[in-house]
Amino acid sequence: MDFYFAPMEGVTDAIFRRVHHRNFGGVRKYFMPFISPSHSLTFSKRERFDMSPEQNAGVPVVPQILANNAGYFRATAKMLRDMGYAEVNLNLGCPSGTVTAKGKGSGLLRAPDQLKALLDAVYADPVLPVSIKTRIGYDDVAEWPALLALYSQYPVSELIVHPRTRQEFYNGAPHRECCGRIGKPFVYNGDLFAAEDIKTLGSLFPLASGVMLGRGLVANPALARQSAGGGRLTPDQLRRFHDDLYTEYLRFWPESAVVGRMHLIMKYLCSCFENSEKALRMLRKVKSVADYDRAIRFLFNECAFLPDPVFQLSILLS
Ligand SMILES: Cc1cc2nc3c(=O)[nH]c(=O)nc-3n(C[C@H](O)[C@H](O)[C@H](O)COP(=O)(O)O)c2cc1C
Repeated sequence: MDFYFAPMEGVTDAIFRRVHHRNFGGVRKYFMPFISPSHSLTFSKRERFDMSPEQNAGVPVVPQILANNAGYFRATAKMLRDMGYAEVNLNLGCPSGTVTAKGKGSGLLRAPDQLKALLDAVYADPVLPVSIKTRIGYDDVAEWPALLALYSQYPVSELIVHPRTRQEFYNGAPHRECCGRIGKPFVYNGDLFAAEDIKTLGSLFPLASGVMLGRGLVANPALARQSAGGGRLTPDQLRRFHDDLYTEYLRFWPESAVVGRMHLIMKYLCSCFENSEKALRMLRKVKSVADYDRAIRFLFNECAFLPDPVFQLSILLS
């Protein structure tokens, strides 16, 4: 079974992917958070940094495109091919209101004619292999069989399924049973937070060729390696990973941006510690690098490490 790192805008940027890749094995592909092309193919500073070949050197990265316009999609795929990328992913899952209002991401799932026209054009003469990351419907899981039938008409290089509807965002349990209908190899994504659960999923769906891990892998950066039969996370590895990440952000970003981003990542990584509430309170009040260093010293020195960390949504929302 292959392990993929899910794209997470605002978390798994080029720096994070690179540092994760050199500290932990086990991930076959890192999916880039979406880039959203416009007619002039001008990209934001964030997007240009994230897709630049220098920032991704040596990391197996798949860029993701969010588009409902086949011309923009093809032009972006060509540009990415010329940069050296070997595959692109089409985002049909993003549930954000600003995205779906424009008929992009999971917004396309409620416009079957438009979706078909896009797929016809994208797969007519693909510039690169195109994989799809999709939800199972917009309003209702009953939309899934028709979507699946549509996807089966195209040479989709890999179908990555997050079995929730758009309306469900990330709430409630994923409709895992919908994956039983797929009938060919697919990649499962959604709420896999513990190595045991990943093993169970493999036996539940023999056609799952891989799993894509998001929040669970940020919270326990050794989860893919461990699920593949490798070692569990150790406190020393976590400390090295943290320090490497922090140093890399400080190389590229202003200090205020670094402490903001590290605070967000630490909200995931606090799942690795017992009784991290005080450290989280300290992190919330951080205004400078010195404050941040103090909070991190407290967390690593005073809070007991949990040997089998599992993503805690309650910590993230706290
Ligand atoms: C903060 C955040 C940002 C995300 N950004 C993207 C994105 O850019 N592209 C995408 O396809 N999915 C994105 N997702 C969805 C994840 O890739 C993944 O499908 C979702 O987190 C469910 O997987 P998990 O339960 O393993 O976390 C994002 C999710 C989160 C929480």
